[in-house]
Amino acid sequence: MIDLGLNGKRAVISGAGYIPGRAGHGRQSALRLAEAGAAVACIDIDPERGEAIAAEITAAGGKAFPIVADMTDRGQVDKALDHATDLLGGIDVCVDIIGRALWERSVDSTDDSWVWTIENNLTHVYYLYRAAAQRMIEQGTGGSMVAIASVDGTAAARFHAAYGAAKAGVISLTKTFADELGRHGIRVNAVAPGNVGSGNEDQPEGVYAVDAINPLAAPRGRDIGNAVLFLSSDLAARITGHTLVVDGGATIRSIWDITDENVSRFRRDH
Ligand SMILES: NC(=O)c1ccc[n+]([C@@H]2O[C@H](COP(=O)([O-])OP(=O)(O)OC[C@H]3O[C@@H](n4cnc5c(N)ncnc54)[C@H](O)[C@@H]3O)[C@@H](O)[C@H]2O)c1
Repeated sequence: MIDLGLNGKRAVISGAGYIPGRAGHGRQSALRLAEAGAAVACIDIDPERGEAIAAEITAAGGKAFPIVADMTDRGQVDKALDHATDLLGGIDVCVDIIGRALWERSVDSTDDSWVWTIENNLTHVYYLYRAAAQRMIEQGTGGSMVAIASVDGTAAARFHAAYGAAKAGVISLTKTFADELGRHGIRVNAVAPGNVGSGNEDQPEGVYAVDAINPLAAPRGRDIGNAVLFLSSDLAARITGHTLVVDGGATIRSIWDITDENVSRFRRDH
């Protein structure tokens, strides 16, 4: 048996609820951490969604508590973490799921959509990293933080420029907090999903290269949950400041249009 080092650990997930038709990263991450033995504070702006994931974990034999908060509001972030600390007895693992893109041509975009996108994808990560780090430093027992970024933070984000800039900001914040917090034994990492869409849970198993984007297959919600679990666990004990891309290989694609059919044109005899 491999020990993930999460048994009895205390985890906080910001945006732990599940909205049908969405990717379900919060739910999948919460379930995986609970399965590994962590008690989970399930923070959500929607009381029913927070209660639903906490109930699902409890029904499966795990330990979980719902907490209601709008995590884009700094005061509510601090209160939610105080509440989580009281319920769990401390915080060892902290995960930020929240984010959403607005789609529009950059030339038509408005100041309001820029501000909304930065607040809903970047600013809350800063609030949460800072609040969790303060509590972890006070505890003095190290910890792990993970945020959901996106492959759109690593390349151009056509028609969702503010989202790409915000996710690039998450990747940068992750490196800086990792750098500053390493001396306290606190690791900080991010996961950059590719196109998980609405979860991809209905994809057939064992079928690869089915579209032009993914050489493997598009990632599922559970693949993101597994990446969050790995980075939160002792298996990642010497990994910090890293952004783990989980995209079925989408962003490794060569820019050259070489295919099985036309490769002979590029062959040279040596
Ligand atoms: N779906 C994809 O293909 C894809 C690709 C790359 C990155 N992402 C990233 O995944 C994350 C979203 O994952 P999802 O679609 O599973 O989540 P989601 O949008 O379904 O939200 C998860 C939970 O967060 C809660 N929430 C939203 N705003 C909140 C707030 N202000 N305070 C507290 N709770 C709040 C919601 O109520 C919901 O229960 C985002 O960071 C997004 O950028 C998604």
